[in-house]
Amino acid sequence: MVRHFTKLTDIEEKEARLIFQRAKELKNMRKEKIPCKTLENKILAMIFEKASTRTRISFEVGIKELGGEAIVMNASDMQLSRGEPVKDTARVLSRYVHAIMIRTFSQDTVEELARWSTIPVINGLSDKYHPCQILSDIFTIEELMGNIEGIHVAYIGDGNNVANSLIEASMVFRFRLTMASPAGYTPDIEIVEKAKKGGFFELTSDPRDAVKGADVVYTDVWVSMGQEKDAERKREIFKPYKVDDLLLNKAKKQTIVLHCLPAHRGEEITEEVFERFQDVIFTQAENRLHVQKSLLEWLML
Ligand code: CP
Ligand code: NVA
Repeated sequence: MVRHFTKLTDIEEKEARLIFQRAKELKNMRKEKIPCKTLENKILAMIFEKASTRTRISFEVGIKELGGEAIVMNASDMQLSRGEPVKDTARVLSRYVHAIMIRTFSQDTVEELARWSTIPVINGLSDKYHPCQILSDIFTIEELMGNIEGIHVAYIGDGNNVANSLIEASMVFRFRLTMASPAGYTPDIEIVEKAKKGGFFELTSDPRDAVKGADVVYTDVWVSMGQEKDAERKREIFKPYKVDDLLLNKAKKQTIVLHCLPAHRGEEITEEVFERFQDVIFTQAENRLHVQKSLLEWLML
């Protein structure tokens, strides 16, 4: 049966562990300049309804390094934008290429594409989820700090796609996650309720409570792609949710700061904090490449 990666809970922990193990091998091979052409003659179609730097380039470099090819499309150049149904697009692409990655607004679009595709579909970000980011971030945390099970992650800011996928990760990998978001901007209620039952997740509106004793402090932009019309209001409401040194004083002394990027310095994170953790943050960005190569192998072979 064809497997998809539309959300983090599409895979079990033991499958994620295999993906991480292989990602580590692929990272080492790349460092040693050892070629690895496991996806020769395979073609990945990538569809973008929103902007991207990391997702686009890491997937394109990834499939090419594995011997395959990528076709990158702006959705606005496809018949999709003129009303061709997602289910027809899915069936057409299934006859041309070997996997599809889509970055879109509605999670329903990703799921509809997966429902009708006979090839793997990967969610490269929707309004609801960003599973490739978070899968890779768990790999990064483990690479830097060891098994995630004993690690306390705090997320500060908007209850957005990144936050929803992080909550799902806390259920799959069973680590403590505390999250602080302002009222009205909390994560998806169904995901929150489910996670709360698991006992690993707590939601608060006070960022100081959330970071207390945290090993990892994670933040993301206050205004996600597609939400620009609410930007001014959000910038006011989110002011107390800035990751700065005052806030980090409440976390563990050796805490690390993660950011999925792009970052808005002076909003969700200060320039000083960003630059102090830049090495970790750019390793986090680099690992998208290694983890996604492994994910492509896992889904396509
Ligand atoms: N973090 C992330 O997905 O970055 P892009 O929007 O540049 O792809
Ligand atoms: N939450 C952000 C993530 C960007 C990678 C957005 O959706 O714009």
